[in-house]
Amino acid sequence: MTVSTHTPTSMHHVLSADQFSSTDLAHIMQRAAEMETILQQGGSTMCQGNILGTLFYEPSTRTRLSFETAMLRLGGSVITESDVTFSSQSKGEVIEDTIRIVGGYTDIIALRTKNKGEAKLAAHYSPVPILNGGDGSGEHPTQSLLDLYTIVKHHKIGERNLNVAFVGDLKYGRTVHSLAKILRKFEGVTLQFVAPETIQMPDDYREDSDQVFTELNPEVLTTADVIYDTRMQKERFEDIELFNRVKNAFIFTPEMVASMKPDAILMHPLPRVNEIMQRVDALPQAKYFEQAINGVPVRMALIAESLGL
Ligand code: NCD
Repeated sequence: MTVSTHTPTSMHHVLSADQFSSTDLAHIMQRAAEMETILQQGGSTMCQGNILGTLFYEPSTRTRLSFETAMLRLGGSVITESDVTFSSQSKGEVIEDTIRIVGGYTDIIALRTKNKGEAKLAAHYSPVPILNGGDGSGEHPTQSLLDLYTIVKHHKIGERNLNVAFVGDLKYGRTVHSLAKILRKFEGVTLQFVAPETIQMPDDYREDSDQVFTELNPEVLTTADVIYDTRMQKERFEDIELFNRVKNAFIFTPEMVASMKPDAILMHPLPRVNEIMQRVDALPQAKYFEQAINGVPVRMALIAESLGL
């Protein structure tokens, strides 16, 4: 990937993977790398005087805490609303009102909502930048940028052919929706979708050139450069019987992962439930913990860019 000094003009809110040009992506990757250096030096005061509000209406560990860590490492402050039962939403307040108010208290908001499209709705009413930390089964663009950052560290994306296989719940998994859109912006990337028919990648995110499988066959395993595994999103299934039928569809064993190419990487946005055995963690292909840690420099970059710093 070529590095650019161009400053994206498209960034204020971060709502969807659609908003980024390949030049923007190169710039964000470069900025995240700079943030990693800043982290190694003990942080910065770049965001001093700025407040990040984290409003999370669905469970989260990594996304909320890495946003908060990112702001604190940049010298800013954080206020948080992470339990909806203690918020005015439980009294019936609509998101438009909450966002207007919290936007009046803060300089930037990281938001996770239950429903697809709510991040865009919130941005419409917000006086400050909204960073979409997941909108229902819609998108999760900031996760995809840290996913891209992880891929870029291990592979020369855009400069050579890259096979990326998405495995698991591709219907409800918002991380795969955003990451597929982002990877399409690079030359030479082939996308493979491995999922039971009932939870395959929705048409909105598919293209004719994609390869679709219902089984994780050895050919996919041994030819992938990146395997991006996901959790079955139990909370989004309307039919629990359907969930029970697919919940154990794919379980990565150490033997399976050892059959991947030596330089291939196994990713997962986490949390994993049972889809990757813990014995896989010690294998060189297992990169999901590194991926989660990359959330901090990437979210530092996004906060700085959105604040125009
Ligand atoms: C993902 C999410 O919330 O969409 N987690 C995360 O942000 N790292 C994936 C998931 O919950 O399965």
